[in-house]
Amino acid sequence: MILRNLILAAGCLAAVSAVTAKEPSRVYLDPEAPLEQRVEDALSRMTTEEKIAVIHAQSKFSSRGVPRLGIPDVWTSDGPHGVRPEVFWDDWNQAGFTNDSCVAFPALTALAATWDPALSLLYGNVIGEEARYRGKDILLGPGVNIYRTPLNGRNFEYMGEDPYLASVMVVPYINGVQQNGVAACLKHYALNNNEINRHTSNVHVSDRALREIYLPAFKAAVDSGLWTIMGAYNLYQDEHLCHNKRTLNDILKGEWGFDGAVVSDWGGCHDTPQAIANGLDMEFGSWTNGLTSGLANAYDNYYLAQPYLKLIKEGKVGTAELDDKVRRVLRTIFRTAMSPVGGYGSFLSPEHYEAARRIGSDAIVLLQNNGSLLPLDSAAGKKILVVGENAIKMMTVGGGSSQLKVQREVSPLDGIRAAAGNNAVAYARGYKSEVRGDQDGLPAQDISDPRSDKELADEAVAMARDVDVVIFVGGLNKNPHNDCEDSDRPDITLPYGQDSLIAEIAKVNPNIVMVNISGNAVAMPWIKEVPAVMQAWYLGSEAGNSIADIIFGKVNPSGRLPFTFPVRLADTPAAAFGEKAYPGIKREDSDIYDIDYTEGVLVGYRWYGTKKIKPLFPFGYGLSYTTFEYGPMTASAKEMDADGEITFTIPVTNTGSREGAETVQFYVSDQKASVERPAKELKGFEKIVLAPGETKTVTFTVRKPDLSFYDEAKAAWVAEPGRFTVTAAPSAGAKGRSATFTLK
Ligand code: GLC
Repeated sequence: MILRNLILAAGCLAAVSAVTAKEPSRVYLDPEAPLEQRVEDALSRMTTEEKIAVIHAQSKFSSRGVPRLGIPDVWTSDGPHGVRPEVFWDDWNQAGFTNDSCVAFPALTALAATWDPALSLLYGNVIGEEARYRGKDILLGPGVNIYRTPLNGRNFEYMGEDPYLASVMVVPYINGVQQNGVAACLKHYALNNNEINRHTSNVHVSDRALREIYLPAFKAAVDSGLWTIMGAYNLYQDEHLCHNKRTLNDILKGEWGFDGAVVSDWGGCHDTPQAIANGLDMEFGSWTNGLTSGLANAYDNYYLAQPYLKLIKEGKVGTAELDDKVRRVLRTIFRTAMSPVGGYGSFLSPEHYEAARRIGSDAIVLLQNNGSLLPLDSAAGKKILVVGENAIKMMTVGGGSSQLKVQREVSPLDGIRAAAGNNAVAYARGYKSEVRGDQDGLPAQDISDPRSDKELADEAVAMARDVDVVIFVGGLNKNPHNDCEDSDRPDITLPYGQDSLIAEIAKVNPNIVMVNISGNAVAMPWIKEVPAVMQAWYLGSEAGNSIADIIFGKVNPSGRLPFTFPVRLADTPAAAFGEKAYPGIKREDSDIYDIDYTEGVLVGYRWYGTKKIKPLFPFGYGLSYTTFEYGPMTASAKEMDADGEITFTIPVTNTGSREGAETVQFYVSDQKASVERPAKELKGFEKIVLAPGETKTVTFTVRKPDLSFYDEAKAAWVAEPGRFTVTAAPSAGAKGRSATFTLK
């Protein structure tokens, strides 16, 4: 018996050793193995055909894995504000699933307006959970293109006009997404600051403006561990940004050491040799119409598909670039689809709706509140009239690739009615916009109204006479030439006759609240006749509740503007230098538009402050239902060495009667420099909550990088000795408290 067992044991041992000897352990499958070992192991097992297969799309939103090795496909999804519905294999249209209606979170401009990095982390985490639950490996967002002109149709997807604010607010979102095992895909890298001619704008910009204004938010994200990044559609130095040597190889992968994957925008790849040599790693959305061409599927026609394989087979190109691309794709897969880190995510949870509502109400900016008309008292038993199409219009459908199929979207009218207590709430349309059809198969909301514009306006004015308060909910919408991808606005005036309607209502009822729903600045010619104005953004599924939270005082507004509201378009920097500065000038012999960022670093408040142009509402501005007072600022020293630092301290007191949050902003001014520098630049901020009567001190430590500008001659950051001023203020337009010091 014993002999039999011995023979059996020997046999098993031999079998096991035979297996292990023949089949070395597949390190790439081991989630505990070091990432680079997994990458090299998998790469060494792949054929050239398999390598080519993983660097381009196989469907509208997916790319191939390596089935033979058990490496899964990569699934991407828009967008920055929520997870897009499932689409047909090669189609923009949604496929009609019944389990992919998501939570829509506030637009990223709204997130930026909270000036609260903790909320940004919350946002990234909840949207990352929804993406993980839906099996997405790459979330095509967030976006941080700088707000250069208020005409840009996609400003609502980005984080405002200041590179420091965008840098501080985008990093936690990315960390929040990626902690769920989903790659953020920061976009659109870079210089994608207008939608008009978005595929053919060739940007001319100084190195200084590139480094000081347009790249910092991307660099901050890469420094914090970004996993993927999306090239932009436009051109820079005559090369498309999806395969641009300078921005991708030299700066992103060279200087910054980015180890993740560069993803093209959909249709952003135009050339095989450039795509091979200039740093594109994953090609999506190229002109193909999908599965109808002659080859196995038309995706084989992609620039990085058969054409690339052919060049390799003919010995015209090596495989060094291919291996680098594949390493980056594998790194992304091992960080996402093949990482246990992210768990299983979650979807449509109460926590997600609560996050949407909280971020939304903290994003709303109270711009004016004369006579403390707000907050309204839900117990007052008053008559309220809500006017405006934006009180009922869905804003989650439309606007381009960031649109969503939501489980629900609480309209401003519904939110106001739900919170109005024993106030009576009536509604008048007031005005109407273009009727829109289905968007990518998402059914258009039917709010058609046969009445004429005059009938609508007359009804609203007539009803306004007989109520205590009018809440006008207007602004822009997600239709083309409003806040919408692939189109810019013609001007900054409110569309659909809203300005005259507001003026007419003000004549019959002085108690008006204007709730502006937009992702962009708008002109407000009626600002003196309207006592209360708030900037309410696009707030997603909980929009109406977030707006009502502020109107009825459940939440004390704490939002601050992430971009300036100019009085008129002509005051803006991009409009100050003729059509070459915007929208650019078309070349004779091609469809390229050369656009010149002539204003240089004087973008946003950097322009208005330096040129002494008074805006309607300045960058960083926002009111509260309480008041704050800044005490004298003290400094730890009067001078510092280049490697030294000075800490500034300022006491801030809540001098009002209810708790509120204040965002203390720190601006640095260089008294004298060898180059033109902006009057002031944001280099720090902190949002603090204060009880009535409470005082807290806020500190800001200045170091050399906060004082530096990019010196083009030296191709380096330089801080010139001399006198500087630090100002602590509630906005870029406020005097605040200042202190000067010397950099030795
Ligand atoms: C779109 C957008 C980009 C989006 C992609 C996929 O054209 O430019 O932001 O993620 O294509 O929809």
